[in-house]
Amino acid sequence: MTKRALLFFHFLILSFFLSAQTISITTDHTQLVLKVNSQKRLCQTYLGERLSAQTDLSQLNMPEAGLSSSCIKGLEAYPVMGTEDYYEPTFEIRHADGNPTSVLKYVSHSQQGNETKVVLRDELYPVEVTLYYKVFPEEDIIQQWTEIKQEEKGKVYLGRYASSMLYFEAPQYYLTEFASDWAKEMQMQNQELQFGKKVVDSRLGARANMMTQPFFEVGLGGPARENEGRVLMGTLGWTGNFRFTFEVDNQHVLRVVSGINHDASIYLLKKGDIFRTADFFFTLSANGVGEGSRRFQRWMMNHQLHKAKDDRMTLLNNWENTYFDFDEEKLVALFGEAKDLGVDLFLLDDGWFGNKYPRKDDHAGLGDWQVTKDKLPNGVPYLVKKAKENGVNFGIWIEPEMVNPKSELAEKHPDWIIMLPSSQSSGAGGTREPYYFRNQLVLDLCNPQVQDFVFGVVDGLMQENPDIKFMKWDCNSPITNIYSPYLKENQGNIYVDYVRGLYSVLDRVQTKYPDLYMMMCSGGGGRSDVTGLRYFTEFWCSDNTDPIERLFIQWGYSQFMPAKAMCAHVTEWNRKASIKFRLDVAFQGKLGFDIGLKGLSDDDRQYCREAIKEYKRLKDVVWSPNLYRLVSPYEGQHCVVQRVSDDRSHSIVFAYDIHPRYGERLLNTRLQGLDTDAKYRVKEICLMPGRQSWLSCNNKVYTGDYLMKVGVKVTSASDLVSHIIEITKE
Ligand code: GLA
Repeated sequence: MTKRALLFFHFLILSFFLSAQTISITTDHTQLVLKVNSQKRLCQTYLGERLSAQTDLSQLNMPEAGLSSSCIKGLEAYPVMGTEDYYEPTFEIRHADGNPTSVLKYVSHSQQGNETKVVLRDELYPVEVTLYYKVFPEEDIIQQWTEIKQEEKGKVYLGRYASSMLYFEAPQYYLTEFASDWAKEMQMQNQELQFGKKVVDSRLGARANMMTQPFFEVGLGGPARENEGRVLMGTLGWTGNFRFTFEVDNQHVLRVVSGINHDASIYLLKKGDIFRTADFFFTLSANGVGEGSRRFQRWMMNHQLHKAKDDRMTLLNNWENTYFDFDEEKLVALFGEAKDLGVDLFLLDDGWFGNKYPRKDDHAGLGDWQVTKDKLPNGVPYLVKKAKENGVNFGIWIEPEMVNPKSELAEKHPDWIIMLPSSQSSGAGGTREPYYFRNQLVLDLCNPQVQDFVFGVVDGLMQENPDIKFMKWDCNSPITNIYSPYLKENQGNIYVDYVRGLYSVLDRVQTKYPDLYMMMCSGGGGRSDVTGLRYFTEFWCSDNTDPIERLFIQWGYSQFMPAKAMCAHVTEWNRKASIKFRLDVAFQGKLGFDIGLKGLSDDDRQYCREAIKEYKRLKDVVWSPNLYRLVSPYEGQHCVVQRVSDDRSHSIVFAYDIHPRYGERLLNTRLQGLDTDAKYRVKEICLMPGRQSWLSCNNKVYTGDYLMKVGVKVTSASDLVSHIIEITKE
């Protein structure tokens, strides 16, 4: 064979090898298949239920991309702006010479354990993009992220840097999004996705999820349903700006692009640096969102949530009871109330700090984390000691990323604050009128000195008070007046570097104080992402604790979040609802109180004490990821949810009547997740003092089969009635 023929032969073998290059990524029930096409481009050939015979992978065809016959064959796994695919790209890069694109070709891949890594490279420019896929087989969750590396000398900018692109083919697509606002978190809304794009994104920087939350569901072939149908459920783990783009192309293929929001964030990537995108997590359920939620909750409990296996503390918070109006005497009396109630911890909220500018309302003091001397003359150590003497743990509120202009910190370090500079080039001079959200500004976490300061807020408190068990870390403002004095001309990096700065602080906190419980709070549920919860043990779902609203908010968060992480407090919101109803709603999450106990009747107080005992007895079932949402508040005037222990021996049903219609026909509620053949005793618990259960199923024994096929009556025709029902295997 001549040298030329040999080369040709090698070429043929290589081409065959490349065209046959198949990468299969599987969980117990899902399979994602990627193939390298004849042009060395990585394409998705399958995403769906796991195929039984792996030999079938060779049958998978390379679908046509949506444009003309001249375009590349296949649906590219990581399409780049400026190449043949004219739809929403995942990646955009501007090279030092101004060339605005790259062509990414397959170089290699490796699979180790649960992680798959595919390296792509531009043949003309020193740019390498590595796609990562990590599977959680049992939980059926796939995690995706990307690393981008460039070795050019000049300035190279990333215009887009998504974590994931997924393609679907179905007759229809229906999106469920989670619209939000202060006190209106997680409002589920559905719509059909037609040709074109629908974007769900945030650009608020900090308090990033105030207007919309980083979760979505897509019903494939019809609207997402609870127990039937194919549904994609996804979330971005990023405590900052996110973006999901849902695009139906001309072939009716749905393209789902997920990542950090690139909007207003053209990122300068230095030579040799690696840009790691956020993590995108998804599950594909063939049995509706119920199954997807159980998978996500289990995954959070097994792999993601900070201290997921550890206990949680019930607590009494003083915010809605005292607001800023407290002193030592009042607080010590509240420690006594916490003890009497039977909760584990007292949480001191906003208003304990600042001297030159005391924090007596929300206009001053943020940033000055020294105790207000004339309010609390004996400092935090005295409070911790007194709480201990009263038999409760002590926790404290901080908002360390923020500053009031009226503070010593703002006077001392104006360059630590994100704030538009005075104009230098226009000739007009001067500064723009700053925009204050809740009278405050955001510290520049891009700056390592600021990161030290923010870490120092926690560290200072902990050094002085090693017995502090809990912190509520608040974040009440989005990033306003967007300009980082630290980044100077690289302003495109601010939104991303802010979050990285935050993570670097939280890493230090977690390393130094692994036993500290922390609540992620952001003016209610303005922060709620799954990566934030790697650092926080729980999050504040909403300032809105009206139990009716909470039924909806908790229904929404339960799509992805485990109950153990969802703080739910009994408060004064909606006094038309009884204490029992309010508590029974909060019982579903991580229970707490934010209420003056003196204002309650003896019976109400007694109810709370007994319910806390029941909560502590049953919390492992309450926090079980096996959630069955039986009756939706979105579909009528009732809400019923059920939790089941892993061994199916124990279950709790929570039933609520909101405002039933006159003469409404009440249906049995059919339970789920039980053992068909086992016998279960049904018992209503958490009754008001002296009351008997009037549920006809109370204290009866049924087979699991009966409970799941025939069901029992747990709803009523009266307003604001609730029942907590324990189901125990005999
Ligand atoms: C935010 C929180 C509240 C409370 C206040 C204090 O709004 O959501 O729970 O802590 O801040 O200022």
